[in-house]
Amino acid sequence: MKYSPETPQDSAKYAVGRAAVERYAHDGARLGLGSGTTSAWMVRALGEKVAEGLQVVGVPTSTSTRDLALSLDIPLVDINDLDRPLDVTLDGPDEIDHDGDMIKGGGACLLWERMVAEASTKMVCIADDTKLVDHLGRFPLPIEVVQYGWQATRRSVSALLADLGYDVEIIRRVRDGEPVVTDSGNFILDAHMGVITDKATLDTNLNWIAGVVEHGLFTGIAHEVLMASPSGESRLIELPHRNAARIPEWRK
Ligand code: 5RP
Repeated sequence: MKYSPETPQDSAKYAVGRAAVERYAHDGARLGLGSGTTSAWMVRALGEKVAEGLQVVGVPTSTSTRDLALSLDIPLVDINDLDRPLDVTLDGPDEIDHDGDMIKGGGACLLWERMVAEASTKMVCIADDTKLVDHLGRFPLPIEVVQYGWQATRRSVSALLADLGYDVEIIRRVRDGEPVVTDSGNFILDAHMGVITDKATLDTNLNWIAGVVEHGLFTGIAHEVLMASPSGESRLIELPHRNAARIPEWRK
């Protein structure tokens, strides 16, 4: 089935998906495949290249990306079977700021997205230009929590955020009247932050809370940003090396 973009934002997502494949999907490339609608355009563009004979392998960041990739005959490997890092992960943000820090997880795939990015030499954020913000936080911050005791975890998150000076509503994500359950069987809490003022402190502190599996504040993860406008123009932003909350030495 042939898909085509239907809105200006979708045209930008389409353009950046295709630009990413042109730039990074060379013969022999080992790719992390992001999730969400931008990544879906990228995966479809990759599928076209694979049908023309391009040799790549991918590691999907969600079951939906896995299913899409399989439907397009893109060869996949299990993240468990990687003997060396992937060359690059291509994935979209919900918001990205001028430091290249992101909020991710609007599609509830943040855990696998972060794991695949971490299993890659490079992470490239592919974004339409509506995603660029001066301050992260208008998009609710997704926090993945285990189902057991999730209300207790929510109270702990709430207490931490109050301690850090945020007055925040935290809502368990629901779709069609049912709690959203991630590909790893967890719930998502959405924290309506407003403006995130200290990204590094929030990033590290959230992870200290028992019951929190991961969160969608991706600081210092992206190495480059490929951004497109609805007219189809794309530009590459290389991010300077810097210290971020959770970048281990071996990833720098
Ligand atoms: C899923 C994600 C997505 O990458 C993010 O929500 C962006 O989605 P889209 O490309 O549809 O705007 O983090 O968990």
